[in-house]
Amino acid sequence: MKMDEETLERLKRWFASYVQTFESGDHDQHMNIALKEEHTRRVCKEILALGRRLGLNDEDLRLAETIALFHDVGRFEQYARYHTFVDRRSADHARLGTEILQEKGVLDELDRPTQDIILRTVSYHNRMDLPRDETERCLFFTKLLRDADKLDIWRVVIDYCHRNGGEKNSALELGLPDTPGISEGVYQDMMAGGMVKIDHLENLNDFKLLLMGWIYDINFGPTYEAIHERQYLESICDVIPRSEKIEEIFAQVRSSLDEKLEEASGSS
Ligand SMILES: [Fe+2]
Repeated sequence: MKMDEETLERLKRWFASYVQTFESGDHDQHMNIALKEEHTRRVCKEILALGRRLGLNDEDLRLAETIALFHDVGRFEQYARYHTFVDRRSADHARLGTEILQEKGVLDELDRPTQDIILRTVSYHNRMDLPRDETERCLFFTKLLRDADKLDIWRVVIDYCHRNGGEKNSALELGLPDTPGISEGVYQDMMAGGMVKIDHLENLNDFKLLLMGWIYDINFGPTYEAIHERQYLESICDVIPRSEKIEEIFAQVRSSLDEKLEEASGSS
């Protein structure tokens, strides 16, 4: 079966009841499960908005929504088992997610190609690089998911960093220390115009720069426009202590965004 409205509704109901099974009396678990459930809901909205702006038909919009719905389905089991969202200290949550979908037969009513594309895009969503040797269609949905996911993660982390004095969430801070300055490796990665390597992270400022560096891993014009309109880069910059190096990095990411915006407006 292809992805019709009824099927999508069923999948949403499955997801909601699956998430419920992780509700225990534990405060931290409750907060972290809610965090990922809300993230999922917003990534669904982001992917639909991007998909519409890119002119997808209704069936492809439903497929896009489904991959967003399931992209972090592994997060719940990950938190329940390991009490962290750090993959390196626990398990690859994307892979865990595809295993859960398969074990529970969640996608069984869908035709094979649709199942495949959902499982593959979910498995690719958190990789450092896009997959090689994939079909154009799979690659397209992978890119769409990665853009939608980043738009919401930016929002979550920016809100968190700007919320002074609120409750700390070590799952969100990756356990990094809040020490001054930035690491040399991160500075080099950013100035080379590429993504920051996880191994170079030493403190929270480095993590904020890693998020800023995601600008180099965006795929679609409407995503760049959203980043610009929501002032994501500026908001991240605002929560990193000013220094010459930070100014240098910011000038570079900002001009890279401006270039992409120009390209996007030229092509639409
Ligand atoms: Fe994820």
